Amino acid sequence: MIKHETIEKNIGLMILLIIVVISGGGLAEIVPLFFQAQTTKPIEGLRTYNAVELEGRDIYIREGCHVCHTQMIRPFRAETERYGHFSTANEHVWEHPFLWGSKRTGPDLARVGGRYSDDWQRAHLYNPRDVVPESKMPAYPWLFENKLTGKDTAAKMETMRKLGVPYTDEQIASAQEQVAGKYEIDALVTYLQALGKTHSVYNNKR
Ligand code: HEC
Repeated sequence: MIKHETIEKNIGLMILLIIVVISGGGLAEIVPLFFQAQTTKPIEGLRTYNAVELEGRDIYIREGCHVCHTQMIRPFRAETERYGHFSTANEHVWEHPFLWGSKRTGPDLARVGGRYSDDWQRAHLYNPRDVVPESKMPAYPWLFENKLTGKDTAAKMETMRKLGVPYTDEQIASAQEQVAGKYEIDALVTYLQALGKTHSVYNNKR
């Protein structure tokens, strides 16, 4: 037995033992999450994002929307009353990278799909203050000018498939055709309207 005094007087040994204890605790908590059905299996009826939504999601990432908006409703009354059913891991198993976020300058968007019309979303992204006068969200007018070619969409879907997202050959083959010629705003709004709508288990009532 090492005496406690020996540990306290030997900083190297103390650091080593602290690392052992924290790693042990961390592994015991984290490793099971990689194997539990609840966190690794998709929720019943989950569908993949289609080609246009997937491009919209990339625009969402490029524009840093996730820096101000979370996509994770926490299991507290104040949150579920406002945003709907709390988020669960099995809704997000096909998200690479996941966009849960941690900072909320704006509201959570995990179930924003269907909350507003497409027209509202477009007006809001063109200039948030046109529809929410007190808003401090930035405007994104260039999304209305930039067009998508869709030339990388199939490759993106193939990469997603390697990561376990079950895209079919047909989805991949028709990806470019579905995306080409769309404006970035169309893809982004299509994506926003899909948020929380890729399955119907929680009904997504707000
Ligand atoms: C600097 C922080 C910031 C960034 C970046 C940002 N937003 Fe916002 N967003 C806000 C704030 C604040 C609000 C609340 C006021 C409003 O509705 O405009 C908001 C509101 C929203 C809403 C309405 C949500 C609701 O439930 O009412 C949507 C949808 C939205 N943002 C989408 C986006 C998208 C898409 C992007 C990226 C293109 C984005 N936001 C980037 C701050 C931000």
